[in-house]
Amino acid sequence: MRKVIVSGAAGFLGSYLVKQLIQQGEEVIGIDNLSSGLMSNLSEVMNHSSFKFLLADVSDKEAITDLYQEKVKEIYHLASQASPKFYQANPFETMKVNTQGTFNLLELARDKEAKFLYTSTSEAYGDPEVHPQPESYRGNVNTWGPRACYDEAKRLGEVICYEFYERYGVAVKVARIFNTYSAGLRNDDGRVISNFVTQALAGEDITVYGDGSQTRSFCYVDDNIRGLQLMMGRNEATGEIINIGNPKEYSILEVANIIKELTHSNSKIIFCPLPKDDPKVRRPDIGKAREILNWEPFVTLHDGLNLTIQTYQENLNSILN
Ligand SMILES: NC(=O)c1ccc[n+]([C@@H]2O[C@H](COP(=O)([O-])OP(=O)(O)OC[C@H]3O[C@@H](n4cnc5c(N)ncnc54)[C@H](O)[C@@H]3O)[C@@H](O)[C@H]2O)c1
Repeated sequence: MRKVIVSGAAGFLGSYLVKQLIQQGEEVIGIDNLSSGLMSNLSEVMNHSSFKFLLADVSDKEAITDLYQEKVKEIYHLASQASPKFYQANPFETMKVNTQGTFNLLELARDKEAKFLYTSTSEAYGDPEVHPQPESYRGNVNTWGPRACYDEAKRLGEVICYEFYERYGVAVKVARIFNTYSAGLRNDDGRVISNFVTQALAGEDITVYGDGSQTRSFCYVDDNIRGLQLMMGRNEATGEIINIGNPKEYSILEVANIIKELTHSNSKIIFCPLPKDDPKVRRPDIGKAREILNWEPFVTLHDGLNLTIQTYQENLNSILN
């Protein structure tokens, strides 16, 4: 049976995808260097006969040569620091995994005639001047700032995908993912939902950056993974960039208030300085995903947050008891 490779397998989205693929009867090889991922994310599948884990850095070609011995049908390339907290602490690793790492895995895809999905990001649009953002919008990214190592690395990763598609005919698909969440996010991950829920449950101040008027769109993990799998499966998505995100837009202050209410928290909302180059608005135009994949998200922010809060609360209780 030909296998599915998932890079970034011990991360938030990667581990969720691995579990889903195994449930669907696939043979999966997960790769991770554990720079931001956790082995505990994979504990459910570690001993499963259909799962193999490779502790390796995908930016290092030598470290992944064993994969050339495998029969491979699909490669999902998710490896990359994704939270500003992690990518700003490791800018060179972030640039390497999205460029050299993408190149290495594309070479493998080419050799194996495997389909390849790259997880790019809404950060490719930078601080957008077009709203909502369609895939045709070319973005407004600062090359000279703390977010550039991630944003520009992802953009170059897309270019590498384009060249492998155009020159070598590799069946490449690029997903531009917008903020995705669930309880699978590390509670020290630093991204907004994990920060707010952790702070609200602990009764700590909820830290809003700026005045909270900046907007984001939040996609629940189930919807995201369904979108990625549809992209991998559909031939019409080959050679395409497709936004995967929830088009319902909220201000960050609204999200803080919703989480405070859903957790029945007495936390105070406090305001901290806005980080440099923080995008003011962010909302996907998902017309292309609707048309090519017949995909749209189903889970509302309230439902997704309730599920997230419930699991964070259970984890907290098990630590306390
Ligand atoms: N979650 C989101 O909202 C979101 C939004 C946009 C894009 N993305 C993209 O989706 C992918 C997954 O994101 P996530 O939220 O699961 O992040 P995550 O940090 O939870 O997972 C990323 C995983 O990649 C691993 N990794 C990093 N560098 C590596 C390397 N050189 N070799 C092997 N493994 C490496 C990390 O250890 C981690 O397990 C990333 O590429 C990210 O840029 C995510």
